[in-house]
Amino acid sequence: MSTFRWSRSLQLTLAVIKPDAVAHPIISDAVHQRILDNRFLIVKNKELQWRAKDSEHFYHEHAGRFFYQRLVEFMSSGPMRAYILAHEDAVQQWRKIMGPTKVFRARITAPESIRGHLGLTDTRNTTHGSDSVESACREISFFFPEFDVTRWYKKQEPLYRTGPIYYDEETLEHRLAEE
Ligand code: RTP
Ligand code: MG
Repeated sequence: MSTFRWSRSLQLTLAVIKPDAVAHPIISDAVHQRILDNRFLIVKNKELQWRAKDSEHFYHEHAGRFFYQRLVEFMSSGPMRAYILAHEDAVQQWRKIMGPTKVFRARITAPESIRGHLGLTDTRNTTHGSDSVESACREISFFFPEFDVTRWYKKQEPLYRTGPIYYDEETLEHRLAEE
C-alpha cells in the first residue's frame, strides 16, 4: 500500500511508449520504471498496434511536414504501450521527464530525460506525451474509447487523491484499496 501526498488536484495525461522502445523490453521496462519512480499513478495501460490510418489520424496536425510520412510509418510499425497517467500537473510533468522532442538536442540539454537517455533519432524518440489538458482529453479518448474522462475527474479524482492506493503488479495499474 503506498501513500501518495498531493497538495493539489490530480490531472490526467496520455503517455505512449513508442514502437522503438516496445521492441526492446529492457527499454520499455526502463520507461515503465521511470513512470513509477516519478510517482505517477497508472490509471490504465494497454499494449496496442496502430494501422497506418490510425497513425495518419492521430498525427493529422503534422500532415505536410517533412517528417510526417516517416512518423506515420514508424508509429504503425509495431506494438506500443499506452498509459493514462495521473499526477499533479501531469501534462507538464510528463513532458519534462520525456525531455525535448529532438533526441540530439535532448542528449545535450537533458541527458537524464527519457529521450536524452533512451531515444534513438528525432523520429524514434521513445515516448509520446499530450501537450495540453485539452489534447490529453482528446488523446485519452482516442486510445481508450471506453474511458470517461469527465466522469473520472468528477468521481475518481478525489478518491485517487486521498487514497489509499496500491500498485497491482499483474495489471501494472494503481488501484484504490477498497476496489
Ligand atoms: P509527441 O507528440 O510524440 O509527444 O512529441 P512532441 O509533442 O514533443 O513533438 P511534436 O512536434 O508533436 O512531433 C510529434 C512527433 O513527430 C516526430 N518528429 N520528428 N524528424 C523530425 O524532425 C521530427 N520532428 C518531430 C517525433 O516522433 C515527435 O515526437
Ligand atoms: Mg506532440
